[in-house]
Amino acid sequence: MKTVERQRLYIQEVSVRDGFQIEPRFVPTDRKVELIDALSRTGLAKIEVTSFTSPRAIPALADAEEVMRRIERVPGVQYAALVPNVRGAERALACDVDELNLVMSASGTHNLANLRMTPEQSLAQFADIVAIAAGRAQVNVSLSTAFGCPFEGAIADAVVLGLLERLAQIGIQRVTLCDTTGMANPAQVRRLCHAVRTAWPGLTLTAHFHDTRSMGLANALAALEAGVDRFDASLGGLGGCPFAPGASGNVCTEDLVHMFEAMGYDTGVDLDALLVLARGLPELVGHDVPGQVAKAGPWTRRYPVPESLGAQA
Ligand code: COA
Ligand code: ZN
Repeated sequence: MKTVERQRLYIQEVSVRDGFQIEPRFVPTDRKVELIDALSRTGLAKIEVTSFTSPRAIPALADAEEVMRRIERVPGVQYAALVPNVRGAERALACDVDELNLVMSASGTHNLANLRMTPEQSLAQFADIVAIAAGRAQVNVSLSTAFGCPFEGAIADAVVLGLLERLAQIGIQRVTLCDTTGMANPAQVRRLCHAVRTAWPGLTLTAHFHDTRSMGLANALAALEAGVDRFDASLGGLGGCPFAPGASGNVCTEDLVHMFEAMGYDTGVDLDALLVLARGLPELVGHDVPGQVAKAGPWTRRYPVPESLGAQA
């Protein structure tokens, strides 16, 4: 019998960065390291471990160096960290991250609110970072508010494509399109991802959705249909940018893996192992989390037939 090759999709975990950055309660360093080490063994392609930002801006991740130093690196998993500026890049490189995930926004207003820089200032920092990272780490750029901004509203596709052109000029070959506050819809995602894939077929493109308006999984599917095979997602559906009003959780990792696997794709991820970790999250963060499959169980779950049906069943 001929076995059908399943298409491989790459799942990139962001709960310990995008998730923890907005948690009001500081997650102790020991618990972060424990969770990252467990996530490392589930088959995820990449883990965004932390961010090298100002500890005043993001106190929840003020232990970035210690976390990076203490985690166990599993071969085959990429360990990334979010970086806003040259100072952050130097800190991340000193910790031997595999990938610097540089962040800027498609919206000038959100760039100022989040990073206190204009987009031009961010691009200038990125050019310097590309030079210092050469041969030491990969460089990805996460473009926040690429599908809409809570301050400015709609972001034209042309603005995003124009910024990607600027990023290509400074040598960026990996880009993540981020829907920071869940404003994207599937038609828009399909259109923009298709345009990006057509213009830069060699670009390593990731889609990063938030489920703020319940369109997260639909948007992921639209991105997949436009040829995207890399997805950021967050265990339990934690997440959100503290400098974007109305922000809430990312697409939930276990729900995304469950959907793709049910459809026949190969995520490389052990869903059962993820579910165990997801079920431990409420205790860790002190509140319920949005993920659905951890509560309902996977679609393969079966219940006993009611006894009252007797032999009829
Ligand atoms: N790591 C640690 N500290 C940093 C830093 C970095 N990457 N960049 C700047 N700082 C420190 C400076 O040393 C200075 O410290 P001091 O006041 O003790 O002297 C302070 O932060 C302010 O520096 P400045 O260059 O004036 O930065 P800023 O106040 O304009 O803030 C950022 C700019 C980018 C550092 C800050 O806005 C930030 O970290 N933003 C991250 C936002 C984020 O992660 N959002 C969620 C993800 S989308
Ligand atoms: Zn995000």
